[in-house]
Amino acid sequence: MKYGYFDDLKREYVITQPDTPLPWINYLGCQAYFGIISNTAGGYSYYRDARLRRISRYRYNNVPLDFGGRYIYLRDDESKEFWSPSWQPTRNNIENYSCRHGLGYSTIGSQYAGIEAHTRYFVPLDENLEIWQLTVTNRRSTKATLSSFASIEFCLWDAQDDATNFQRNFSTGQVEVEDAVVYHKTEYRERRNHFAYFATSEKNGRFDTQRESFLGRYNGWDKPDTVAAGELTNSIAYGWSPIGAHQAKIELAPGETKQIVFVLGYHENPVADKFDPAGSQILNKKLVKPTIDKYLDPVNADAAFEQLSKHWDSLLGIFQVDTPDVHTNRMVNIWNAYQCMATFNMSRSASFYESGIGRGLGFRDSNQDLLGFVHMAPIRARERILDLAATQLPSGGAYHQYQPLTKRGNNDIGGDFNDDPHWLIIGVSAYIKETGDWGILDEPVQYNNVEGSEQPLYEHLQRSFKYALERIGPHGLPLIGRADWNDCLNLNCFSDTPGESFQTTTNKEGKVAESVFIAGLFVHSGTELAAIARHRGLQAEAATYVAEVEKMDKVIRQHGWDGEWFLRAYDALGAKIGSKECEEGKIFIESQGYCVLAGVGLEDGLAAKAMESTRKHLATKHGIVLQQPAYSKYYINLGEISSYPPGYKENAGIFCHNNPWVIIAETRLGHGDEAHDYYTRINPSAREEIGDLHRCEPYVYAQMIAGKDAPSHGEAKNSWLTGTAAWNYYAIAQWILGIRTTLEGLEIAPVIPKSWPGFTASRSYRGVTYKIVIERQGQGNSVALTVDGAAIEGNIVTPPTDGRKEVTVKAILS
Ligand code: BGC
Ligand code: NOJ
Repeated sequence: MKYGYFDDLKREYVITQPDTPLPWINYLGCQAYFGIISNTAGGYSYYRDARLRRISRYRYNNVPLDFGGRYIYLRDDESKEFWSPSWQPTRNNIENYSCRHGLGYSTIGSQYAGIEAHTRYFVPLDENLEIWQLTVTNRRSTKATLSSFASIEFCLWDAQDDATNFQRNFSTGQVEVEDAVVYHKTEYRERRNHFAYFATSEKNGRFDTQRESFLGRYNGWDKPDTVAAGELTNSIAYGWSPIGAHQAKIELAPGETKQIVFVLGYHENPVADKFDPAGSQILNKKLVKPTIDKYLDPVNADAAFEQLSKHWDSLLGIFQVDTPDVHTNRMVNIWNAYQCMATFNMSRSASFYESGIGRGLGFRDSNQDLLGFVHMAPIRARERILDLAATQLPSGGAYHQYQPLTKRGNNDIGGDFNDDPHWLIIGVSAYIKETGDWGILDEPVQYNNVEGSEQPLYEHLQRSFKYALERIGPHGLPLIGRADWNDCLNLNCFSDTPGESFQTTTNKEGKVAESVFIAGLFVHSGTELAAIARHRGLQAEAATYVAEVEKMDKVIRQHGWDGEWFLRAYDALGAKIGSKECEEGKIFIESQGYCVLAGVGLEDGLAAKAMESTRKHLATKHGIVLQQPAYSKYYINLGEISSYPPGYKENAGIFCHNNPWVIIAETRLGHGDEAHDYYTRINPSAREEIGDLHRCEPYVYAQMIAGKDAPSHGEAKNSWLTGTAAWNYYAIAQWILGIRTTLEGLEIAPVIPKSWPGFTASRSYRGVTYKIVIERQGQGNSVALTVDGAAIEGNIVTPPTDGRKEVTVKAILS
């Protein structure tokens, strides 16, 4: 069953039933102020860091589901009945419900008792605030006398502390109210110079700032006493739980419409100007007031919304395609690109599954995310690369994550994952291929954020590779360290203590367990680094990388091949993992996909064989599972992977992140049908029809779809923040459609399904717009190119030297 539909022209997903199988969320904000919002207005906001600057409160894993949000109530002051136009929290029997999740905004509303109401939520560009525009229309034939109530529950900044330290936090809350603005200033009296505020355009209404006064004793958000009674109490919070609530009286003639604007925001005052008058304890509101007033005016709010739409138009306009497949078009042109920007902004911090307190920006994750967004935000990509590289350790190794607010690396969720440093090389290479900005390699970048340790970024790449060379195991394969891409393959952990972290515990020296996946990654990153070195004129150095890559390639064939597929690893005792000799976990996806993606075995049939085995043992109609057979019990020598029930997560779930590696591998073998078939199996838009099984949003990828060993095979989980976004975007755009960035220029090498007559695309690249037409004349993948009518050799289009800004490229496939 479907719960809505795609409105491709408006670039919206329209949800038409509020009780979706799970909250279907969207993101507000794309720079510094962010929020998540569900289709029933649940969610929260934060400034830069979802843990340290949480603005509003949300209760994860609550019962009922998805509680805490940007809640608006309407009350008919004659019948005394009240409801929420967004369905939650009151859950009345509303009519014509819709939630339009668009690019950076959501509009949610419905009709009830003849009153239509919608709220558009968005964050203007360059501002640290969100706007809620509530529009109420009287569809009755008689006058309506209503009250509106808007509410937000403030979080006391540190979301972790807020959810645990009640003995203190029940006594710190403070607010001020002035001119219909509730200012939340908990801890402002001491070391904070930031505060939040909640303002309304209706200046004559009542308010509440103490949660209990608003809700009444023992009530939930579904039944606030004050809303039922029709009057807020003008309470002033002192400790306990500060909220912001505003009431407005609305009289509407039949057919009449009224708009009320609310602004929820965050502001930092200069330390010396915290109070006004100076020396008092009164918040200085002078600096923020003009901004609040500006956006309470609907004209300015609308203008800001227009600007936001233009912003997204220009980002998505960089790459647009028209193929015979609607699901491909929709994901490439709209939703996958949009999701890539969300993963860039949030990394893995804040979603319905990521609580915003667990993880900062992952070194490995953020580098891979670059693959999906670098063309849309090259300047920010540059900054991200330099931030990431500055956390790198002098050894070339990496902290596993850094906190976005401080930009400092930490070991909270482990370190010594031996795949980490390779991703920096791959990320930087993707950046240069897009931008041609070779200068980034000469940027001085610190190690471990230590002043004085600056070295050119290029040296960071050299050290990354050196780190790998210094960690080679008994078979000549890379040592795995804590784990590799698969955080749950913890071969040196050997944990028998309940609750111990699989990612931070190590009980073995780590000198034996090796990873064939990292070997594939080594071939990939070594090849990229060699190309970069060559371009810098470092021929001898490039040759050493090539030699190391060739050596590793040989080792993979000798010690990483199991007869019909690539092995996955050797454990701490030197036993094979991912081999026909194993009882469970005989074959894994990561080494098949990544080794072939990197080019191993393309010539001698190993790659083709590995893909055949993948199809035979791992492919399901819902995607490719991570390994088979699933682990049926806990293996102390394998760690977290065997902690999950069969079919979930890393234990034989369809871990969508690595499916594109196989997709790319298939294109490397010239298999367009297979590649696009795998692409479609996990494409959320193509799964829209099976909404009750899939359960997650049909417009974004989820980290996982339950594998064939799970009773819920086909059910998605952990949507939005996953490397799946970048990798699928990269796989479809650069490998199936084959519009590929290289160090020299734009390569045109499509490997599309045989049934496609071709497709067209528009791609802006290094300041030039390429209008690309692909036409199939034969069944193969050979490309004959003409550029502005002139035939060219090979399939790389180099930037025009005569200043042309638009170029037409025609490719004949035969
Ligand atoms: C998850 C992994 C994740 C790791 C580190 C594990 O529990 O299964 O997917 O990478 O935690 O956060
Ligand atoms: C999610 C993590 O964010 C990512 O870093 C890891 O590679 C995958 N899980 C697989 O374990």
